[in-house]
Amino acid sequence: MKPLVDRFGRAITYLRVSVTDRCNHRCNYCSRPQEKHRERNQVLSFSELTEIITVMASMGVEKIRFTGGEPLVRKGIAELVGMVNAIEGIRETTLTTNATLLPRFARRLKEAGLKRVNISMDTLDAEKFRLITGGGRLSLALEGIEAALREGLVPVKLNTVVMRGINEDELAGIIDFASERGMGVRFIECMPMRDGFDWKRHYMPIQEVLEREDIKERVVVEERGEPGGAEHMLPLRSGRGRVGFISPLSNRFCERCNRLRLTADGRLHLCLPADMDVSLRDAIRGGADRQGLEALIRKATEMKPEAGVYTFSTEGRKKSMIHIGG
Ligand code: 5AD
Ligand code: SF4
Repeated sequence: MKPLVDRFGRAITYLRVSVTDRCNHRCNYCSRPQEKHRERNQVLSFSELTEIITVMASMGVEKIRFTGGEPLVRKGIAELVGMVNAIEGIRETTLTTNATLLPRFARRLKEAGLKRVNISMDTLDAEKFRLITGGGRLSLALEGIEAALREGLVPVKLNTVVMRGINEDELAGIIDFASERGMGVRFIECMPMRDGFDWKRHYMPIQEVLEREDIKERVVVEERGEPGGAEHMLPLRSGRGRVGFISPLSNRFCERCNRLRLTADGRLHLCLPADMDVSLRDAIRGGADRQGLEALIRKATEMKPEAGVYTFSTEGRKKSMIHIGG
């Protein structure tokens, strides 16, 4: 079948699938304390999800990342992973999680064919962890990391959102923690995705991270680095791997964007900061067949903007990060 390519010649090979907008954490930069979640009947069923993924795989999508909310709170997640891995054309499934439920699910996910996990981890200090996540327990997340390593969901990568005045002094420690365990780490600029979080105060550009002495001691910052997917990779001075730097605000990678996102309630979301989407759920429930879905997905992809624009005002958005899944 004809590959899925947007107006700017970017081929879509990667789909991020939010399987639930529920989460057992409430990270300060992600969700409002009393975020309303979608009712069960609004959320895509497994058969609707696999239908959409099958159509997209036939157009060239090869890689699926499960996100949330917290994807492991979706009932039957390991079964879903197995179903998606069985779809022709899907080469790799991965998952982004806060790790707290991994002790329970890591083995089943591995058995279902999940390749690896990215783990959100912004601090190694239990009290700070509790504050950032709105009550989460660091010890559970650490147990989850061990479970992922034990079950071979590797390479495990830590995702660390950089926040001035909150965790900027911990980044070097997180590099050491990760490299001691053979894990990767990626530092992500905080994006203005919700109201009520003092983004201006906490935003810190990656350039400033690279100017920190404790980072320069560990990372070869002189190197220009190679573009990874969305990140810029720089080697560690120890020779034990590389660190990724993701600068959605200060240094965008839109021209290399290969992805679309699917929200738990079945909207095809075209670009992370843009509140633009098309409901595939309504199409399916309205009786669209595979051809109909394919046509709709192509039409939606036509609307994918050339570059993401952060408006710095999150007021009036239909969706916040907890709906889109990062
Ligand atoms: N800015 C940057 N990263 C964010 N994430 C969630 N919200 C934001 C934000 N406002 C990250 C999470 C997770 C990934 C899916 O997205 O930490 O690792
Ligand atoms: Fe949950 Fe992840 Fe959002 Fe934190 S960032 S509230 S762990 S979905």
